[in-house]
Amino acid sequence: MAGKEELSYSEAIAAAGDAFHRFPLIKIQGVPLMCHIVHNWDSIWAFRPDPSDLLIATYPKAGTTWTQEIVDLLLNNGDAEVARRAPTSFRIPFLEIHSPPPVPSGLSLLKDMDPPRVIKTHLPFKLVPEGFWKNKCKAIYVARNAKDNLVSYYHFDRMNLTQPEPGPWDGYIHKFMNGELAWGSWYDHVKGYWEEREKRNILYIFYEDMKENPQREVERIMRYLDLSLADDVISRIVELTSFKTMKENPMANYSFITKPVFDQSISPFMRKGVVGDWTNHFSPAQTSQW
Ligand code: A3P
Repeated sequence: MAGKEELSYSEAIAAAGDAFHRFPLIKIQGVPLMCHIVHNWDSIWAFRPDPSDLLIATYPKAGTTWTQEIVDLLLNNGDAEVARRAPTSFRIPFLEIHSPPPVPSGLSLLKDMDPPRVIKTHLPFKLVPEGFWKNKCKAIYVARNAKDNLVSYYHFDRMNLTQPEPGPWDGYIHKFMNGELAWGSWYDHVKGYWEEREKRNILYIFYEDMKENPQREVERIMRYLDLSLADDVISRIVELTSFKTMKENPMANYSFITKPVFDQSISPFMRKGVVGDWTNHFSPAQTSQW
């Protein structure tokens, strides 16, 4: 299923073998990105979406995968079997991702899909290809409170062996605050989309709201997509996208990304899925410096 080669994702990863390591970051317009993204930047920036395409944009670890699963189920009338047709990364390609071949890039997956497509990005607003806004594509932005977002990113960087070493926790906090992590500053990211949300018709939602009342937020996304689903379908989508159900779903829990990319024995992708885990990580001194 990995593009034209018909390799599964894990087979493609195995075939790339030694080409995977912790890739350095290179800046574009002040935003640090994995070097493979930067080396392919011209083709990413030139991407022209169809007006019917939908963008899901987030800072990494803000609830992207959760939102992808909700959207895919909404677009398929809550059909669990359809949503299990392929791993998240194939159903909703990651626009800018480039990895060593034969692992397919986001662009190559998109090339083989007919619109309307759902497309994931972590790019800050200023780096999103302009075609999305020229074509008036719909876009959903998910924001998560900075401290929980940071904790989640820290554990992700421990287990994602293609991102720079997170290093010690205390230093990681400063890298986050200084915008030195991949995809840059959390502050600029959430603010950039916030400032554009009305002009660009971006649906701006919050991880914490999704946790507080998932049904309300699923319905909010449904209305934005101009869909009208029955109440029992909404309830089923809420259940299918609960943390517990998604953690056990091999098409949504990233078990399809194997070593040497993700080492989920270090930290699972579906880690805790809660609000407030930062209190288990921040010392009083770190909290007061924030
Ligand atoms: P934690 O590391 O805090 O557990 P992303 O998809 O943007 O990479 O975000 C991953 C974060 O979202 C992880 O946070 C993960 O556990 C959480 N997450 C994924 N699916 C979820 C769900 N259905 N409900 C709540 N949190 C979820």
